[in-house]
Amino acid sequence: MEDPSRMKINGKRSRTQLLKTPRDSALSLQLTHNVRHAGDFLEARGWRWLGEYLRTVLNGRDNFREYDLSDSRAGVYVMPEAVSVALASDWATGTINAYRVRDEILRLQPDITMHLGDVYYVGKQEEFDKYFLGDDDWPRGALPPAEGITALPSYALNGNHEMYSGGHAYFRSIREHFGQEASFFCVENEYWRIIGLDTGYSTKLIPGLELLPWWVRLQPQNIQWLQRNVLSSSDTRPILLLSHHQWFSAFEREHRKLGKDLGNDPRYLLWFWGHEHRLAGYGAYQTHSKGPLIRGRCIGHGGMPIEDIHRPVKRDRNLVFYDRRVAGSVDSTEVGYCGFALLEFDRETLVIRYVEETGRVLVREKWVRTPDGARGEVLDFDADLLTLVRPIDDLVA
Ligand SMILES: [Fe+2]
Repeated sequence: MEDPSRMKINGKRSRTQLLKTPRDSALSLQLTHNVRHAGDFLEARGWRWLGEYLRTVLNGRDNFREYDLSDSRAGVYVMPEAVSVALASDWATGTINAYRVRDEILRLQPDITMHLGDVYYVGKQEEFDKYFLGDDDWPRGALPPAEGITALPSYALNGNHEMYSGGHAYFRSIREHFGQEASFFCVENEYWRIIGLDTGYSTKLIPGLELLPWWVRLQPQNIQWLQRNVLSSSDTRPILLLSHHQWFSAFEREHRKLGKDLGNDPRYLLWFWGHEHRLAGYGAYQTHSKGPLIRGRCIGHGGMPIEDIHRPVKRDRNLVFYDRRVAGSVDSTEVGYCGFALLEFDRETLVIRYVEETGRVLVREKWVRTPDGARGEVLDFDADLLTLVRPIDDLVA
């Protein structure tokens, strides 16, 4: 059972409330309204939920924001040559574990922080205000203003849960609180590029459609911007992709259209995603030749209770490691550890550490620029803590 005394430290929701959160707009909205039994209709909560759900479906999604493509630098931000970037996904749950992750991120004082999506349960404005935007919520980057630096201290990607309320609060919040114009962006320096993609917008409000494997995809404006403002240049800077949804997975459903939307560009190096609530690292893999040959890093363990600590079901996805440790139990369900990734860029060198909520570093990988890309090396790997499926060096091959 959850220990209530520990919850009070800074958790705003108990982990029990987040267990088994459905990937469905109507059911997620039920949780927002605390509708769990037929009797809730007698107390009016059920009717409020039903009315709001129907209103959301009829009103539809907020407009997709796009850049003016007559400006070839639109959506491209410049970061320093030496800079640290913290990444976490599925963080905005309000659980005590999310706030432990927050504390560890702040302890490392990253210049920039990026959230890879999912503000629970449905990304309504009240939920953004209470679980993401407050001073004690999502950790903001400490990037100081400097000449020639246009990068923002914090960014947020779009996820399926933001879109379950139509994405209105998401688009409003990133503009007003982060100064972020659109749900996709490129943050670069002379050596590296980070590209954030919007895979959440295609999530439909109508139950079940997201379950179609080809439904999750990039918007045409996102693809057009990527091709014109990012990929059209002839430089060889390696690209780190960020998105909410996974292109492939050894454990769960795959979203095969995403790779096709990106194309097979040799500059793609690593792809960080969330959505799956776990930590896992893959060697180079592509689900089809029209998509990138890329190394996946699943970091969807930012704030949700990690319920699925099972073995992988697909053997051929080049999974190298994953975390299947049990950190405790919530209502008799075994749960794992939450965590995040820290990217430390220093000119030609990039070191990535994967940190858990306790502050322990589980893996460190290092990449060094070469004339035609980057060369990787695993610096440390804690074999006592993580489950190794293949030789650890396959992670960077
Ligand atoms: Fe998600």
